[in-house]
This record gives sequence, structure tokens and C-alpha cells, in this order.
Amino acid sequence: MKIEPFLLERWMTRHETHVKFDIAESGILPLSTHDLLQFEPEDQRASTREALLHLPLGYSEARGTLALRKALASTYAAVTADQILVTTGAIEANYLLFNVLLDAGDHVIAPYPAYQQLYSVPKAIGCDVSLWRVGPETDYRYDVDALERLITPQTKLIVVNTPHNPTGAMLSPADAARVYALADSVGAWVLGDEAYRWLSVPDGDPFAPPVVEMGARGISVGTLSKPYGLPGLRIGWIAGPADVVERCWGMRDYITLSPGKLNDALACLALRHHDQIMARNRDIITTNLKAASAWMAASGEVLSWTPPRGGLLALLKYDLPVDSLTLADMLATEYSVMLAPGAAFGYEHHLRLGIGQQPDIFAAGLVEATRGLERWRAAR
Ligand SMILES: Cc1ncc(COP(=O)(O)O)c(C=O)c1O
Repeated sequence: MKIEPFLLERWMTRHETHVKFDIAESGILPLSTHDLLQFEPEDQRASTREALLHLPLGYSEARGTLALRKALASTYAAVTADQILVTTGAIEANYLLFNVLLDAGDHVIAPYPAYQQLYSVPKAIGCDVSLWRVGPETDYRYDVDALERLITPQTKLIVVNTPHNPTGAMLSPADAARVYALADSVGAWVLGDEAYRWLSVPDGDPFAPPVVEMGARGISVGTLSKPYGLPGLRIGWIAGPADVVERCWGMRDYITLSPGKLNDALACLALRHHDQIMARNRDIITTNLKAASAWMAASGEVLSWTPPRGGLLALLKYDLPVDSLTLADMLATEYSVMLAPGAAFGYEHHLRLGIGQQPDIFAAGLVEATRGLERWRAAR
């Protein structure tokens, strides 16, 4: 398969290991194994730790252990363990689904800007991909009327991503139901990339139900990377019709075979502490969103945004005489602060901000970013 470079990943790799203030990060501050153990009741911590230490590291159950699949299934209404495939992150889940559901020539609708995989993999398969704009054209919000204009009787798959990376847009429950009905009317699948599930913002928008709950053509993709702060576990999943899940499993035999056994066990541990982890997220998001809002208000001459309605991300528009790659590289190399270049999403004069970072680092990053932006403002 010939595929275009994943622009954001290439850019992040250049800077992420040496900057002090990564405020471009797409996830929430990661948890450690120690943090997960601390969530256990005190009288069970030692036995949980011992069980992890003595777990034989053989191959794991290929679909993910039954315990993990049951725990994941229970996060949805009326989904069974047989409808879950545990994958190497949401990225593998999406990749398998695109390859199982699509053939060259199929018509696919995907959001844009977006996590690039969502349109680049269907394109690489040879699909005819229509881009559903969620950028400045629609005030960084989903417009279902625009989707309706893109649908044809040949549409095979509609991709939604809510909360949305990189804008923080949300599909309302009514709009999500409309998207599903539109897909159903032409016999298309709906793939819900729900990587930012459970990540609500203060006074944000309500979440639509996961797509898998909407009907037989709905497939949800989830991950522990963003909502659980566990991207290093590489645990994602597909929740969908049992036959689709089975076909994805068959393809995965050729790629990664099974989840890491220790990662599967740590995922089970994390899921037992969902509520504590979500409470921790809320604290981080509330603090950082407040800091970001104050910073945006103070930077009004240069920056504007539509604040995120859910998730961890927002796209900022800047009014400076410099392209986003030059600006983002300069901020990273000279001010040690990472804000992702809009060019990686196809939107010039934008930067992506992530509000999941440790609050003191986030606040310091904003200060450094201001110093960098000031330099260009002076040149304006
Ligand atoms: C929308 C979206 N989907 C999927 C992924 C992949 O996540 P992971 O493979 O870590 O679960 C990401 C990561 O940034 C994302 O933003």
C-alpha cells in the first residue's frame, strides 16, 4: 500500500523528546503503573501488584482476554464480549476497519481537518474520499446539512470523530442520530472514532451515544490512550457487529496477533477505576481550560478560537506573517514549547492546542508561547 506521510506524527517526532512544554499533546497527562495501583483499595494493593509481577508473559488471548472484553462491553448498552476486539490502540482498530469494510473505488466521507488516518488510509486503499469540513468554514463545528450534500447512493462509509481532533467539535445527540439515519438510508456503515469518549469540558456539549448503540450499521472505536491517560499501553478496541469484529480479528492475525498480556491486565485494572480516573481528568481539564481561556483573552490581537465543546483539543487561528510550520518549529526549538502546526491538518495560520498537560507545565508553556508569538507580532 502506498500512503502519504502522517504529517502530524512526523512533526511531533521531531520535537516531543526534547521540549519542556508540550502543549500540543493530544492526550491527558499519562498515569503510571504505580498510579493505577494506588487506585486499588489499600488492602488489595499488594495482591494486585503481586499478580501483575507473576503474570506469565506468554501470548495472550488473541481477541483480548475475556475479562477485558467483558469490561469494555459493559461500557456500552447491549454489547457483548463477542462484539469486542481489543487492538493495538484506536489506530489499529481504524486501520483494520478500513481494510475490512472498504474496497478501491468505494465512496467514503471523512471529517476534515482530522486525525489524518481517518482520510489517508481510505485514500490509500483507493477509495473516493469526500471531506466533510469542520474547520473555519463552519466555525469549527459539524454541519450535518453539508454531510447530506456529500452522501451518494454509492457511499459505503461515513467516519465521525466526536469529540473531534483537532477542533473540540461535538456531534449533538440529534445530529448523530441524523448522521446514522442518512448512512442507513444508503446502506453505509458509520465508523465512530470515539478516542475522546468520556472527556467532557466544563459547560461543554452533551455526548451523543456511542455509534455502536445506534443500530446494526454502527461501529465504535475506543481507546485507553486519551480518556485514561494510558497511551503507552497501546490498548484500543472495536465494538461492532460480531461478524465485522470477526473479520477484523482475521486480518489482525497478520499484523499484531494479540494484545500484550501485561497491557491487557493493566487495562483491566484501569477500567476498574474509571470514576477516579475521570475525576482526575476533570480537574486537569478544568484548570487548563481556564488558563487557556484567560490566555486567549489576553492574546486577542493575535489569536482567536472557538473553545472546545468536548475532548482535549482546540484549533487556534493566528494573525501573524509566518506560516504555521515555521512558527511551530521556532516555538519548539527556541522557546521549548510545542503547539502543533495547522499545516499538518491542512489549515494554514492555525496551531493546535491540547489541554491535557500537567497544569503547571501547561501554564508555563502558555507564557513561553506568548514570548514566541510576541516576536512575530513585533514584525507584523
Ligand atoms: C481521533 C483519533 N483517533 C485515533 C487515535 C489513535 O489513538 P491510539 O492509537 O493511541 O489509541 C488518535 C490519536 O491521537 C486520535 O486523535
